[in-house]
Amino acid sequence: MLSKLAKSINLSSTLAISARAKKLEKEGVDVIGLSAGEPDSDTPDFIKEAARKALRDGLTKYTPAGGMPELRKAAAEKLKKENGLNYSPQEVMINCGAKHSLFNVIMCLTEKGEEVIIPSPYWVSYPEMVKAAGGVPVFADCLSSDSFKLTPEILREKITGRTKLLIINSPSNPSGCVYTKEELSKIAEIVLENDIYVISDEIYEKHVYEGSFFSIASLSEEIKKRTIIINGVSKAYSMTGWRIGYAAGGEKLISACIKLQSHSTSNPTSFAQAGALEALTSDKSEKAVSDMIEKFKERRDYIYGELSKMNPIEVTKPRGAFYIFPRIKSLTHTGSSTEFANKFLEEKHVAVIPGEGFGAGGYIRISYAAQTDLIKEGIERLKSFLGEKDRV
Ligand SMILES: Cc1ncc(COP(=O)(O)O)c(C=O)c1O
Repeated sequence: MLSKLAKSINLSSTLAISARAKKLEKEGVDVIGLSAGEPDSDTPDFIKEAARKALRDGLTKYTPAGGMPELRKAAAEKLKKENGLNYSPQEVMINCGAKHSLFNVIMCLTEKGEEVIIPSPYWVSYPEMVKAAGGVPVFADCLSSDSFKLTPEILREKITGRTKLLIINSPSNPSGCVYTKEELSKIAEIVLENDIYVISDEIYEKHVYEGSFFSIASLSEEIKKRTIIINGVSKAYSMTGWRIGYAAGGEKLISACIKLQSHSTSNPTSFAQAGALEALTSDKSEKAVSDMIEKFKERRDYIYGELSKMNPIEVTKPRGAFYIFPRIKSLTHTGSSTEFANKFLEEKHVAVIPGEGFGAGGYIRISYAAQTDLIKEGIERLKSFLGEKDRV
């Protein structure tokens, strides 16, 4: 009964383990959740208040399909102010989360059989979206010795006559790597030489702990024309449940995506857009974000310090996002971290995400978007779990 497409889509591995952890919690088990893909703090109150006000004022009807004009303008202004990028509001669209921005863009760019290069480890949804669009995901395996970043050599090897797109995610989920301007320049050169497009997923832009964030689109007018920026309010302002993301790119592509969106979700939720507008424009936002980032940096330092002292583990220092991606040395590269994560959850009641879903068996993703005492307890349980037996 199911279509070939429906049969080919995998369940998100991040959601699978979180569901199991929630079930255990319901049964009264004291679970330490280190699997979350969202900040642990609540949405700042001034943002909530803007949405409450929108509801009181009757902003309860459909908005234009591409989002409220004020919000498209605010996102364009943000890109100008923070990233030095000139986009008109018509070159920006608002979607139901950055995931939906990505989905729209991949659907509107990818022809059946065209290849999309995805540096691995990668965020779980990219390959599934490419498959849904009829494209072919091509994985470019990145090395821990390169901090899991795509090198020019690896990129060149993967480009064929069928390549349409490259997806760059900096800071990265799951590895936490952050590309420098120099690294992006080399990638941009190859993109331009080969006439392909780049999706730059910048959803963790604010979560950078060393150096600063740089968007590949800021390199030159030429690469900007070949780039589609994806961003949103989920991670930066603790607004994951609000489902507001945005994309910026050429007007032709953005208009096509809006048409597609008009036949799927109609528009992103009206009062959630009002909250996102406040997040992008309020003078209170900068402090709210920097307070959160400071906490994340402390946690990152703690967890990296602890993991790097543990013998059974090999770990690269993440420079951004809120994940750390250690390799469990006793595991082979062929996919036993699912078993590891399942046993760790069953025996020690700690939820982490197995690396397979990110294209990297042998690794686990630990999220430090959790209170420090929980992270500490999680680390103690990991030490005890690894110390108990040979976990191959
Ligand atoms: C790399 C990456 N891109 C995009 C998203 C989607 O974010 P949103 O909540 O705005 O849909 C996520 C969420 O986990 C992510 O990790």
